[in-house]
Amino acid sequence: TASGKGFPEGFLWGGATSASQVEGGFDQGGKGLSIADLATAGSNVTPRSYTATIEPGRYYPTHKASDMYHRYKEDIKLFAEMGFKCYRMSIAWTRIFPQGEEELPNEAGLKFYDDLLDELLQYGIEPIVTISHFDDPVGLTQQYGEWDNRKFIDACVKYAKVILDRYHHKVKYWLTFNEINTVMYFPMFNGLAVNDESMARVYQMAHNRFVASAQTVIYAHEHYPGLKVGMMLGAAAKYPYSCDPRDVIESMEKEDDIFYFSDVQVRGYYTNKAKGKLRNYNVCLETASDDEQQLKDGKVDFIAFSYYSSNVVKANTDESEVKGNFSSGKKNPYLETSDWGWQIDSRGLRYTLNQLYDRYQVPLMIVENGLGAKDEISRDGAIHDQYRIHYLREHIKEMKTAIETDGVDLIAYTPWGCIDIVSASTGEMSKRYGFIYVDADDNGNGTYDRLKKDSFEWYKQVIASNGEVL
Ligand code: BG6
Repeated sequence: TASGKGFPEGFLWGGATSASQVEGGFDQGGKGLSIADLATAGSNVTPRSYTATIEPGRYYPTHKASDMYHRYKEDIKLFAEMGFKCYRMSIAWTRIFPQGEEELPNEAGLKFYDDLLDELLQYGIEPIVTISHFDDPVGLTQQYGEWDNRKFIDACVKYAKVILDRYHHKVKYWLTFNEINTVMYFPMFNGLAVNDESMARVYQMAHNRFVASAQTVIYAHEHYPGLKVGMMLGAAAKYPYSCDPRDVIESMEKEDDIFYFSDVQVRGYYTNKAKGKLRNYNVCLETASDDEQQLKDGKVDFIAFSYYSSNVVKANTDESEVKGNFSSGKKNPYLETSDWGWQIDSRGLRYTLNQLYDRYQVPLMIVENGLGAKDEISRDGAIHDQYRIHYLREHIKEMKTAIETDGVDLIAYTPWGCIDIVSASTGEMSKRYGFIYVDADDNGNGTYDRLKKDSFEWYKQVIASNGEVL
């Protein structure tokens, strides 16, 4: 806290992954297909394609991913060796309800996560579980289309209740939807025009997820009062391109596109500004009579967010010079970019922490942050990922300032892809984030053996010193 020095006692240092990107075993233990299982491999220049079925002869990287489904014991042991206090993971909906909404859950899937969670707990690692991370059941999409159909709410809440009932004594921290705001950017916007009709669908999809999240929070609080349920926001600091007030206003509006989501989930209602936005796009949300009350009663307990980069916003232009995970913009001459073109901005993390804390005054977790980079195994057999250490160190310094100087209530830090995983945007394995290297290439060739990178030992001492030795 502001009065103390450094990271608070009990700060949750750890790492993060998602089921579809790390597990593999896509058809094991009765698992059904998720939309992630139908995405082919791509690259920074070739987008992934989403096929209707599994097409022979094409490579689908999530099918084996990092093979954690078979190697979780080895992986968790390595996490424990680094001293992880927590591990952010997601549960694959399609392991629990293979088609999305069977009458009864799949026991083999439930058992898998029981074992995995027990393994974590045995080392004293606190699980932080995302309920839905970019892997909706294909069965559900075939029947009902997309999230703008309210059938998704019922199916998702049923799934959420099953896992809350099963794991409430093992998992205290839950996140409802990964980067809930990215519904604004993909998958619908891949090639789709931004018009009244598409925006209506996007906002309806968002609304239905708000309701599903609220119902989940209400259920968790009612049945298991010790649980904390958070939202998960894809954050990115926005800077105006110049002091031209038009740039400033445009930048504010881009920020508002993000706060639209956290306002509803943290405050429990649509603000006047949010309603104005809907009016602007001629959106009339389809709602049920108790939605409003549920949003109020189902406010989240904390905000978890991802942060990779910042963006520069210029008025009256769509042309973008640099990329980010879900937002792009003008080049910032003061910043360097990653090999994938994302702008590296550690100060933007402090800025974002302040913005969120000043606005909401609820505990914050940084549940994704890191540098996607190509790693090479040196002659000596080691992986000298100094660039990754540098990235993380700079970001941790800013977190520390946000805690010490600004008094931000930050409770957890879980760098993304703590073990190498399949990239969500490109499907590449070679876009690596991990402290632990996985010996597999972009086509799934390799031994899948695990190797410690230099950042492994570095992060271990960061945790051991509670963020003092960087
Ligand atoms: C976030 C997602 O958008 O960014 C993750 O929650 C994703 O699933 C991460 O992996 C990093 O993006 P990428 O495209 O480098 O994998």
